Amino acid sequence: MPTVAQFFLCGLLAVSARGQDYDGSPRDEDAFSYVQPENTTILGPYGHSPPVFPSPHATGSGGWEEAFAQAQDFVAQLTPEEKADMVTGQFGPCVGNIVAIPRLNFGGLCLQDGPLAIRVADYASVFPAGVAAASTWDRKILYERGFAMGEEFKAKGAHVALAPVAGPLGRSAYSGRNWEGFAADPYLTGVAMEETIRGFQDAGVQATAKHFVGNEQETQRNPTYDPDGTVTDVLQEAVSSNIDDRTMHELYLWPFANAARARVASVMCSYQRLNGSYACENSKILNGLLKQELGFQGYVMSDWGGTHSGVASIEGGLDMNMPGGIGAYGQDPKAGSFFGGNVTRAVSNGTLPESRLDDMILRIMTPYFWLGQDRDYPTIDPSSADLNTFSPRSEWLREFNLTGPRSRDVRGDHASLIRRHGAEATVLLKNKNNALPLRAPKTIAVFGNDAAENTNGPVNQDTFEFGTLAAGGGSGTGRFTYLVSPLAALNARARRDGTSLVQYWLNNKQVATSSVSDLLGVPTQPEACLVFLKTWAAEGEDRAHLDSDYSGNEVVASVAKTCNNTIVVTHSSGINTLPFANHPNVTAILAAHYPGQESGNSIVDVLYGDVNPSGRLPYTIARNGSDYNAPPTTEVTTNGKYDWQSWFDEKLEIDYRYFDAHNIPVLYEFGFGLSYTKFNISNVRAERVVQAIPSTPERLPVQPGGNPALWETLYNVSVSVTNTGPVHGATVPQLYVTFPDSTPSGTPPKQLRGFEKVALEPGESRVVSFALARRDLSYWDVVSQEWVVPEGEFTLRVGFSSRDLREVVRVTLVE
Ligand code: NOJ
Repeated sequence: MPTVAQFFLCGLLAVSARGQDYDGSPRDEDAFSYVQPENTTILGPYGHSPPVFPSPHATGSGGWEEAFAQAQDFVAQLTPEEKADMVTGQFGPCVGNIVAIPRLNFGGLCLQDGPLAIRVADYASVFPAGVAAASTWDRKILYERGFAMGEEFKAKGAHVALAPVAGPLGRSAYSGRNWEGFAADPYLTGVAMEETIRGFQDAGVQATAKHFVGNEQETQRNPTYDPDGTVTDVLQEAVSSNIDDRTMHELYLWPFANAARARVASVMCSYQRLNGSYACENSKILNGLLKQELGFQGYVMSDWGGTHSGVASIEGGLDMNMPGGIGAYGQDPKAGSFFGGNVTRAVSNGTLPESRLDDMILRIMTPYFWLGQDRDYPTIDPSSADLNTFSPRSEWLREFNLTGPRSRDVRGDHASLIRRHGAEATVLLKNKNNALPLRAPKTIAVFGNDAAENTNGPVNQDTFEFGTLAAGGGSGTGRFTYLVSPLAALNARARRDGTSLVQYWLNNKQVATSSVSDLLGVPTQPEACLVFLKTWAAEGEDRAHLDSDYSGNEVVASVAKTCNNTIVVTHSSGINTLPFANHPNVTAILAAHYPGQESGNSIVDVLYGDVNPSGRLPYTIARNGSDYNAPPTTEVTTNGKYDWQSWFDEKLEIDYRYFDAHNIPVLYEFGFGLSYTKFNISNVRAERVVQAIPSTPERLPVQPGGNPALWETLYNVSVSVTNTGPVHGATVPQLYVTFPDSTPSGTPPKQLRGFEKVALEPGESRVVSFALARRDLSYWDVVSQEWVVPEGEFTLRVGFSSRDLREVVRVTLVE
């Protein structure tokens, strides 16, 4: 329950704020969604979004000062019409387009999806998905992946990558887009965001942290439009993610603070409503949290069609409207725009201060100059325009000058990097009697419709019964130039070894319902039976279940009845229930997620021990699907306009925080993963690095990432890690913090606050240290609106997973 003070604060801030529509007329109270409309279900201590105006102007502080000055020069030369063009998307060759202004030598902006590849492109690579990259728990890999993707975006002429993803964070196991993001933990996701953004931007491409914020389900992410009305007539508004202030700070906002700190160029506001107000016109989250509190200096772009108003959105903090049109997904360019000419009109009639419009453009152009995109940037590959089904040429209302070589091959030597990353991302969950690595087995039998080539075409815009899965669907997918299937890689390996005879059964229905010994038809069992399972997920829909698709559990059960060395590999969007995990004949299980184009090679490298697995789960695998909390809101039984509500009542208790708080046994916990060698941890030490630690941070001028005092290291914790097994391998020591008893109730029993990937030869030891910043050791106090280090004793535990914590040290920061 909130305290009286908290409740009063919310109530006070939730007083009606009036906005104005682009035509200058006052907005309907009812349409101004953070004012509680009558007869709706927006009630309770949260679910309101207080007004925060005006929108803070950028200053370029924190390293962008020079680029900011260049942007100021640029803005000073723009006509009113050009200003409107700078903030309004146009249909054109890329997924998002800002038109060129040739007289100022500005070539325009090309915005392209997405988080695992430049999607609308030929001759580009498909990298491991976010969930796979996060499973490496390897900062270096996360950076390398971002950099390599950045190289490809740039070579194709894309200025802005619509990646990476920190929302969804993974509140619900069912969310259809969890795989695009990283981990069901803000700390790990925060690190992954920083590394990926730095990678992209070091390669010269603007990164976009998306979807801001609370985009934790796909169902009703957008309004239901009236099919008989105009393009803006809404029957039911999008779902509202209702998140209390503490949960917002400690979970969902957290990784965006890392993104701001990494100087991310852009943030994409999400589709759904947040505490009653659309995310793309929500002044509390855009002006208040992002621009004020986190000191974000870049621009906020809307998700595609996520803009629902003109001036109200601009005042609320939105800087760029994408793709520019109105209606569902902004897909009707001829229906006009909330921005465009309305922006010019709003400035000329005094509704919108010109200084705010200038601020929007300064925010857009500062990262452009900062990254040197004004100098010799590659042209847009004309082939991208042909592949862009979102806005085909027939829809373009403006001219685009597409010169330069067509169909450039931008893949470079990324295949070997993708193969390595895919292998490093693989999580070994079970390895009974050292079933793995395989030792040149004479006979292998392969089962499952995920093992072989796709039969319905390679573009993952749909799930097909036959064919391996290496990426999910929607805007976060990639366009494969090739895809190495597990079966192809196993065959190649068998030929190389000159030993194995590989036979395969790819029809799940047949395997699930037949006697496998009859199928095998040989007197002796294969030495290993490999079962490949897949689980599809895509943008726009939540998962219907947590099992593998196409009766995967039944396939395993059938194979394991006959084969006493059944090895299961899952290619999945994320969480799967694994009811066969304790079957005595299932000797090994590997979660390979979506590894990208080298999928087969990556898994064969692990199966045969060329790569010693070191991936770790970025979420929890429960014993039963029914053990998971926080399901998406999948239906409402009433038809009121505002009735879609998703109450984040579990607050901080998502994933392991929930299982730990309720002592629920799990199958494989967050942070878990096996290796072909063994590791030990010893000698934990905690060293205080600052003298006095006041409970609240010094109020320093805000920099990108927020108050710099929050990033100051207060403690260094170190442990010694030893490889005690027979082979070279890497492990991930993890540090979890248990807050003192004085911390307000609802604090999770432990929270990840440090990790490091460390590779060791047999017998080798290394000291690994974790820097604990003030933010890591604070909770968000809703009353003082400040991060507070609580009084009393902290327990710091280090181990190899969230439930395998071996070393403990206790420290008191504030007496
Ligand atoms: C909608 C998706 O939510 C977003 O992630 C994507 O970047 C845009 N569409 C553009 O495709």
